[in-house]
Amino acid sequence: MNSSLQGKNVLITGAAKGIGRGIALAAASEGANIALHYRGSEEEAMKTAKEIEELGGKVTLVQGDLAHLEDIKRIKETLDEKFGHVDCIVNNAGWAQVKSFFQYEPEEWKREVDICFYGVLNLVHTFMPAMMENNQGKFINIVGDSARTGDRNLIVSAAARGGTISFLKSLAIEAGRNNVQCNTVSLGLIDQGELNFNEATLAKVVKQYPLKRLGKVDDVTGIILFLLSESADWITGQVISVNGGHSMLG
Ligand SMILES: NC(=O)c1ccc[n+]([C@@H]2O[C@H](COP(=O)([O-])OP(=O)(O)OC[C@H]3O[C@@H](n4cnc5c(N)ncnc54)[C@H](OP(=O)(O)O)[C@@H]3O)[C@@H](O)[C@H]2O)c1
Repeated sequence: MNSSLQGKNVLITGAAKGIGRGIALAAASEGANIALHYRGSEEEAMKTAKEIEELGGKVTLVQGDLAHLEDIKRIKETLDEKFGHVDCIVNNAGWAQVKSFFQYEPEEWKREVDICFYGVLNLVHTFMPAMMENNQGKFINIVGDSARTGDRNLIVSAAARGGTISFLKSLAIEAGRNNVQCNTVSLGLIDQGELNFNEATLAKVVKQYPLKRLGKVDDVTGIILFLLSESADWITGQVISVNGGHSMLG
């Protein structure tokens, strides 16, 4: 497998911390120039940027709200100036509330859809025409498996992200003519040391995973590097689960 991303300009959203940070560090290790996006976590973003620079990588910080098209347009202007163009986007940012639909206020479900669904459309609308003009590009969207299985406590984000899966499949047909690949990576539960489960609950959750453990950030980075690489040039419109076997969707 050729996983080199040498010289590629890669925008990773929500990359100050967590899974996005892991992806940014892994892509920088493969030689990518990183556009490190954050919304509120400025301090963490600066720390992650420093780590990338220590790896010898080039990094530019960009801030904005995915739900606001004008923010995304401003980010593109900055990146056009700094990098010339963006080759690949990993949309890792998201916002999901964990509760029953009947506990929602309308402004809350609207905000979730604005970020998880319209955020993807805002990115694609802003960045993909240039990718298509360059005849190369990759767009990877990260969702949770709930987008396909359903989850009564993630009901709105699951629905919004189900919409992005459909959107990216249709987009893959159009963008494929210009050698731009669009794929979705669908995650099971990733343990970043912040789960508030007691021992009994944790054991019950882990039992649902055939591989008998929750995921780690490193379990996610490999598939993202692969999908960003030339080795994945003939893969588009797909949904790939990284979930310890929790759900086995055809
Ligand atoms: N962790 C899991 O077990 C799991 C499971 C399934 C799916 N996922 C998905 O995988 C991705 C990464 O998960 P994670 O747990 O590492 O991180 P996360 O806390 O769910 O979210 C990642 C980042 O999204 C950014 N964000 C939130 N609202 C935004 C907005 N309106 N505009 C722009 N950015 C916004 C935040 O950036 P700032 O902090 O800078 O504000 C946050 O750091 C998420 O999309 C998540 O839903 C995670």
